[in-house]
Amino acid sequence: MKKHWWKESVIYQIYPRSFMDSNGDGIGDIPGIISKLDYLKDLGIDVIWLSPVYKSPNDDNGYDISDYRDIMDDFGTMADWELLLKEMHDRGLKLIMDLVVNHSSDEHEWFVESRKSKDNPYRDYYIWRPGKDGKEPNNWQSTFSGSAWQFDENTGEYYLHIFSKKQPDLNWENPKLRQEVHEMMKFWLDKGIDGFRMDVINFISKVDGLPDAPNPEGKKYVSGSRYFMNGPKIHDYLQEMHREALAQYDVMTVGEMPGANVEEAKLYTDDSRNELNMVFQFEHVDLDSGPGGKWDLKPLKLTDLKNNFTKWQKGLEDIGWNSLYLNNHDQPRMVSRFGDDKEYRVESAKMLGTFLHMLKGTPYIYQGEEIGMTNVRFDSIEDYKDIETLNMYNEKVNQNGENPAKVMESIYVKGRDNARTPFQWDDSEHGGFTTGTPWLQVNPNYTAINAEQAVEDESSIFHYYRKLIQLRKEHPVIVHGSYDILVPEDESIYVYTRTLESQKLLVLLNFTNEDQSFDIPADLQGKKNEILISNYEANTEYGSAISLKPYEAIVYLIQD
Ligand code: NOJ
Repeated sequence: MKKHWWKESVIYQIYPRSFMDSNGDGIGDIPGIISKLDYLKDLGIDVIWLSPVYKSPNDDNGYDISDYRDIMDDFGTMADWELLLKEMHDRGLKLIMDLVVNHSSDEHEWFVESRKSKDNPYRDYYIWRPGKDGKEPNNWQSTFSGSAWQFDENTGEYYLHIFSKKQPDLNWENPKLRQEVHEMMKFWLDKGIDGFRMDVINFISKVDGLPDAPNPEGKKYVSGSRYFMNGPKIHDYLQEMHREALAQYDVMTVGEMPGANVEEAKLYTDDSRNELNMVFQFEHVDLDSGPGGKWDLKPLKLTDLKNNFTKWQKGLEDIGWNSLYLNNHDQPRMVSRFGDDKEYRVESAKMLGTFLHMLKGTPYIYQGEEIGMTNVRFDSIEDYKDIETLNMYNEKVNQNGENPAKVMESIYVKGRDNARTPFQWDDSEHGGFTTGTPWLQVNPNYTAINAEQAVEDESSIFHYYRKLIQLRKEHPVIVHGSYDILVPEDESIYVYTRTLESQKLLVLLNFTNEDQSFDIPADLQGKKNEILISNYEANTEYGSAISLKPYEAIVYLIQD
């Protein structure tokens, strides 16, 4: 398999609105990020993925872009951004930018023009349809609740918006639009960036005719995802994008792809097909959802998680490459979701970090993960800011009369604002994030959980992550070794090996708050071994069985 810098890297995601505010307006900004680059360098990461910093009216916090070639006023200026890139490159850090081109903002000049008249030159930059029998053109539902179509008085037609009505979908059937996107990508690539994370990029090709989705229960709106996820022209569009915009640069790409399975991911990430380097798949973050979708809470079974990761590890073993993540700005905090954010917060955060960083693929750290930040519980829906959460609450409680307490419970578990509370830098007011009023309240646990404390404490999650990242630089088996699972049926522990020539890693992970034990298979007994990392006082006994304390993680390096 070919070597690439992005396979050896660890990537850190910054959600700029919530990272660091430099001017006291309560909103994180680019100078704030610059002021924290030394902290990130100290952590040891190689690459920063920056969530959108482009001009935007912020209906969806920057994922609704009104000018792809300029910076949002809240975050600073183009000069600030250029300084950020320089300061990063001076420190040997790479920068990947978010590319949000399934949709733009309705305030983008293309859309402003497009809605003016049916014969406007920009009309076909978006997806316009006449109504059907006095209703929407089809029954698709928006990801953010309600119909995916919005009627526009001016021309008497509807436009498609898979996300909010202020995020109209771009029409990728139009070659002019595609060319604009390629040019815009080159604008940033020529400034020297190191790649793109591509927002819902597998949504850009829609099935011809935009048919109604099956609706056996006769609902008002239903998911049309099978008609726009991994659509018929997606591979053509990605190959063209590679040819026209990416091929001349040494950059990496990761495509966000809800609904992509292993077979599709192979096609997207096969080096020889010239599409993308990695995808963010969603299967493992859907395992704790019931048939009603994300807000329909279901307990997670460890065997489901193990089966799923094993499927992806084996599936992309020879073709393609995995991206490894347990949380981001759309997902709840991983220690709250997969670990124990109370009694064993530190242990379980370290265990989950070990789990992810020892797998095959490129690990992504979401800001605050490295200090074990947790989910939040605000008393009132008024305290929440995320459009997905607010629209869902409004639909369920105000329109459908559902029990507000039950809906709040699902927000506490799954709401996106869990991940978006401001970064907790120290124990001063608002966690040192801002001297003003933060746009979203800081999690009240900042007095105990913050970066200053974590950097000072050698036994913190922060220092454990530094070590995990360092190990990757020292042991090629962590990057390139093949993966195999042991005891797949066990509901308490996750054990896997990574093998590269004569070296083997044995990774032992206790996913419970009770003691567990693992019988070492005969072929791994009596071998020369050393502990690479462990989240408890290292237990050096390597006999026929190993006992594991609550949420314990141990990684052995075994030599043949
Ligand atoms: C995925 C992004 O990660 C999410 O934050 C956003 O709301 C949607 N795409 C729409 O852009």
